[in-house]
Amino acid sequence: MVRAILLISLLVGAVSAGVVGPGAPCGGRENESFQLSKACEATCANPVQECLGDCVCNEGYVRNAQGNCVKSEDCSVVQCALNEVYTSCYQECEDKKCFPSDTDGLCGIPPECVPGCYCKRGFVRTPQGKCVKPANCPSNPCELIRCPAGTECVNGDCVPTNTGSDCSTLACLTPGGCAMVQPLVCTGPVNTPCPLVPMCVNANECWHTRCSLGYECVLQETACGSPPCTPHATCQLARI
Ligand SMILES: *[C@@H]1O[C@H](CO)[C@@H](O)[C@H](O)[C@H]1NC(C)=O
Repeated sequence: MVRAILLISLLVGAVSAGVVGPGAPCGGRENESFQLSKACEATCANPVQECLGDCVCNEGYVRNAQGNCVKSEDCSVVQCALNEVYTSCYQECEDKKCFPSDTDGLCGIPPECVPGCYCKRGFVRTPQGKCVKPANCPSNPCELIRCPAGTECVNGDCVPTNTGSDCSTLACLTPGGCAMVQPLVCTGPVNTPCPLVPMCVNANECWHTRCSLGYECVLQETACGSPPCTPHATCQLARI
């Protein structure tokens, strides 16, 4: 028993490097100290572990989500910005916005309370996240938003460009229907072929084109006098 305590003291001492045993500071961490978790008792199966303790918050302090021991009135770590008010149960859908979406106001019951900040009464949130008077909202949600390459701003959100663009979303009344066409110009890396985009075509030349093995027929936009131009069939190395 005495030897077990001595062993623990040595272990703790190695960690906190200084004062050892119950009540010792926890590696210099504020507001907490080392406490044995139970009365020190060795068992046959585990002669040491039963004596282990832990750093616990000092009396009057509680541990917050960041792992620090603070007074309970200091539990909130959310810092509200200008024109915001703190709430212990924040729900994004209840925050007033410059450009509310259809689902705003249709809030479910949150699974757990997450602290956060609402815009103060009379203020609304811009797509950039600031709370402003409604008169100071940008005139459209995409104003002032710079989307990273490959994405574009739609209703204040940066969404990948051309995602989901295939013929399933484009209804065409042209004889050739919808076809994936390689445009002449596109944004993207130079010297790489433009990604195919859905287009309504008058004729789909690929229907009558056969390419040799390893090649595939790709409709390619060709310059013409007055658009829309008929894309022409090309045989390109098949993409795997
Ligand atoms: C110790 O507690 C005080 C009072 O709650 C708090 O202000 C301080 O940040 C705490 N220290 C640490 C390291 O969390």
